[in-house]
Amino acid sequence: MKGLQRLVLSNKWSASLAEVFEFLEKPMEQVEEILRKAVQSPVRDMTAMALHLISAGGKRLRPALTILSAQLAGDVNSRTIAFAAAIELMHTAMLIHDDVIDKAEIRRGRAAIHTLWGNEAAVMCGDFLFAAAFNILAKDGDIEVIRTMAQTSSQICEGEVLELQLTFNPNVTESQCIEIARLKTAELMAAACKIGVMSVGADGQQFVNALESFGRNLGIAFQIVDDVLDWEGSVEEIGKPVGSDLLEGKVTLPVRYILDSLAENERRIWVQRISERAITPDEVAELARFAKEQKILEKARAVAKNFADRGLAELRLSVINSENSNQTLYFLERITQFIVQRRI
Ligand code: IPE
Ligand code: IPE
Ligand code: MG
Ligand code: MG
Repeated sequence: MKGLQRLVLSNKWSASLAEVFEFLEKPMEQVEEILRKAVQSPVRDMTAMALHLISAGGKRLRPALTILSAQLAGDVNSRTIAFAAAIELMHTAMLIHDDVIDKAEIRRGRAAIHTLWGNEAAVMCGDFLFAAAFNILAKDGDIEVIRTMAQTSSQICEGEVLELQLTFNPNVTESQCIEIARLKTAELMAAACKIGVMSVGADGQQFVNALESFGRNLGIAFQIVDDVLDWEGSVEEIGKPVGSDLLEGKVTLPVRYILDSLAENERRIWVQRISERAITPDEVAELARFAKEQKILEKARAVAKNFADRGLAELRLSVINSENSNQTLYFLERITQFIVQRRI
């Protein structure tokens, strides 16, 4: 097994994921190769920055979704592999930009790129990776795939800016939280599945739509759980203080539920703290204790599970039974299970 791939497969993520990646070992190895080639640059720091993050592993969920979606629709081919790499490049680009935006210091257990090379270089590295993704798609030349990915990029940016627009706003609604999750995270997973199907030239728009919708539901579930994890973990587990999203002013879905569960007088205090941007880590830790006692995080996880279950149910309806599809569905179920149950 090659170096990078071993890093990915030595994943400590979970038994469900290990099983999926064991099955996808060959195609994922090819994806890793394309990733490494795509980040080659005569400018030494560009490659160094990109490899810093890519070689740190990451769960590689999105390329796995592309490959499995392709397999559900036909036979995985070289286009599938190229698209899977393009999806991961776009994801990586967003992570780099996101860490600049969030002032996050750690990513994939390593120092975030901007902390080592500075914001200026990090932003350019993100742009470089976006371009690398489109370069791969341009070589393939399918205008519908390029359009899908361009729309997805716009949506991710819109999601990030919508989130910024709503920071320190204690009145963010449940549906706004879900809309942010859809735009910044779920649309990329939707695209990962959609272009997987497109890579095998499967006919039937209905099937393309079904996979796209599955990816979207899965992505919303994924982001909700990500938001929950911010409240569940400790500094040691997630590399940041509990509730650090709220410290940054992000009223995520679990925060919405926590605020709604507070007694009236307590809620008023919190609404004021948030709008005045006067929140301390100790106060947030107190809120985290309240959330645990009241089992509010379980409620958010249940909402995530609902999205994931809906996605899977719709998908099952659109798949015609065969040995091949049953096996692929099984792996998609394992990924879904990981996403709703994950603790990391
Ligand atoms: C992190 O995504 C960014 C979000 C959308 C929450 P992942 O948790 O899939 O990141 P990696 O690729 O495994 O590091
Ligand atoms: C990341 O959202 C979404 C994108 C990368 C577009 P978050 O800011 O919630 O993700 P983490 O927690 O930093 O991974
Ligand atoms: Mg972030
Ligand atoms: Mg963010």
